[in-house]
Formats: sequence, C-alpha cells, structure tokens
Amino acid sequence: MSWLVTGGAGYIGAHVVHAMTAAGEQVVVLDDLSTGDAGRLAELPGVPLVVGSVRDRGLVRRVLREHAVQGVVHVAGKKQVAESVADPLTYYAENVEGLVALLESCRAKGVARFVFSSSAAVYGTPDADPVAEDAPCRPLSPYGQTKLVGEWLLRDCAAAWGLAATSLRYFNVAGAATPRLGDSGAANLVPLVFAALDAGSAPLVFGDDHGTPDGTGVRDYVHVADVAEAHLAAVRALTAGSPGGTYNVGRGQGASVLDVLRVVGEVTGADTTPEVVGRRPGDPASVVAAVGRIERELGFRARYDLHDMVTSAWTAWRRLQPL
Ligand code: WQD
Repeated sequence: MSWLVTGGAGYIGAHVVHAMTAAGEQVVVLDDLSTGDAGRLAELPGVPLVVGSVRDRGLVRRVLREHAVQGVVHVAGKKQVAESVADPLTYYAENVEGLVALLESCRAKGVARFVFSSSAAVYGTPDADPVAEDAPCRPLSPYGQTKLVGEWLLRDCAAAWGLAATSLRYFNVAGAATPRLGDSGAANLVPLVFAALDAGSAPLVFGDDHGTPDGTGVRDYVHVADVAEAHLAAVRALTAGSPGGTYNVGRGQGASVLDVLRVVGEVTGADTTPEVVGRRPGDPASVVAAVGRIERELGFRARYDLHDMVTSAWTAWRRLQPL
C-alpha cells in the first residue's frame, strides 16, 4: 500500500515526499516536471517517479492500480498569483480540471483518502487577524479562486461518495530542509530579496503605509519542513479513519517585510536597506494564521522560526545560484 504524491518533484512536494518516506510511508510520485526537478528525489532511489500529468486519466489509473495506492497527496498545480491574473484559463485547467480528473481516477479505483494543497489565498483580505478556518473566503486572484473551488470539489465528493479529504491552507512557505530541496523560483519575498542582493540592488518593499506596526505587510512565514510535517499529520489522521477537514498551516505569528529584511541582513551579512515603492494592488496588510484547529485535531505545531527559514533558504539559494 502506498501514497501517491502529485507534484512530488516540486519545492513543497519533494519536502512532503522526504518527510513521508522518513516516517516509513511508501510513496510514488507523479510529476510532469514542468517546474519540478527530479534531482530533488535523487537521494530516494526507492521512490518511483512517474513523469506525467494528473489530467492523464489512463496514466493515473495505471499508477493507482500498479502501486496499490491507498491515498493521494495532491500538491501538483500552478501557484503564481500574477500569472493567474494574466492567464486564468491555464490556472483553471491545471488546478481545477486537473483536480476533477484526479478525483475521477480516485473514484474509479476506490481511492478515498485525499490531502489537498490549498492556500491562505482563499481568504483574500481577512476580516480577522489571526484568521481562522471558518472565516469568509473571498479570494482576490484566479489562483486563489482555483484553490477555493478545489476545496468545494472535495467537500462535494465527501458528501457524494465518502471521500475523506483534508485541505491544507498554506500561509507563506519559506526555507529548505536540505540545500538540494530549495525553491528555484523567485516569486516570493525571501527569494526576491536574495535575487536583489545578488544583483547589487536594494530589496523592494511594496508599501510602508499598510496600517501595521511598522507600516509594511505582515505575513505568517512557515518553514517548508514544517509544512511537510503537517502533510504527514494529515496522512496519519486519514489512515486512522478521520473524515478529513480544513486546516491553516502557519506558525500563528506575523512577521513584517522589514522583519524579514532584518533577518536576511543578519544571516547574509549584506546591507538590506530597502527601496520603498508603491503597494502591490490587492496586497492585504496582514495575514496571520489561527493555528488552534490544526494543533488540536492533527497535533501539528510548527517548530522552526524565521531565522531557521532564512538561513536554510540562503544556503539552498547559494547552491542553486553559485557566485
Ligand atoms: C509577502 C509580503 C508583499 C515581494 C502569495 C500568495 C499566497 C502564497 C504565497 C502560493 C507581502 C511583500 C513581496 C517584494 C515586498 N502563494 N513583498 N517586496 O503575496 O503574501 O502570498 O504567495 O502558493 O497564496 O498570495 O507572498 O512573498 O509575494 O509577499 O515588499 O519584493 O512581502 O507585499 O506583504 P503573498 P509574497
């Protein structure tokens, strides 16, 4: 019996695969390698990598059968907010059609346990801070919409055919468990700051008039190794017969952009004096997770702090972009 991890060669997915195999779970990976990197699985020769799309129903059914899959951790998907605004159809095709196809395959093969990568983007601008799972969801981008639609799909399948599904709403994921597992993209704050430092330019701060203590945006940064452990906790709960649920995955603590820059300065020794530019349209002032539900129901609590995230992210960044 094994678990299928889709997107298992990607930044978050590979961390999930490493955490699950370290905990003794048998894992098979499906990844189309559009943004994934098979090298992230090189230290795990016992983990089969099937290259293909979740939308390829024939392939997915074969994988579910041949590997005696008992549950799916669905991490594969598109995740760039700005790209989703420019090209929504690709996001609906990959994130929504992809999920429909995968669920059809699961239903056909009797696979009834499912962990889904959702996002704090489903909340949009939260009314409350910290934001709990039962807060209203008003996503601000096609990306966030696709994640919310995904949660609806899972809820409806749970009601219709007994799917046990857990949606994990990730907050701002950063860091790397090992240098090899780092994030190669540069679309989020930490890698963008590293890229600016490498280019010899000042990191950009998108607005210092946000109504937060120092005026810059506040987010709940969570170490990707902790995010991976949250998946393991979700998998274990489903295996034990839980019906699933919806959970925030964060630390429950906010850090501002200036906090992050200060830690990057400490870790790298570089001057991180920023250039303040205008707010990014649609950016909420503060998004921090309420973490009581995941602590109570899944026994999960993040272990790593912002310093750990920045240190590990910087080591991984230097490996990927040697000077
Ligand atoms: C963080 C903070 C920016 C870059 C998005 C998605 C979310 C998740 C993570 C998913 C904000 C500020 C940023 C910069 C800055 N995506 N910033 N200068 O927007 O919180 O979340 O990515 O997979 O769903 O919505 O993350 O890293 O872009 O920004 O000042 O150069 O840093 O304004 O306050 P965000 P981010």
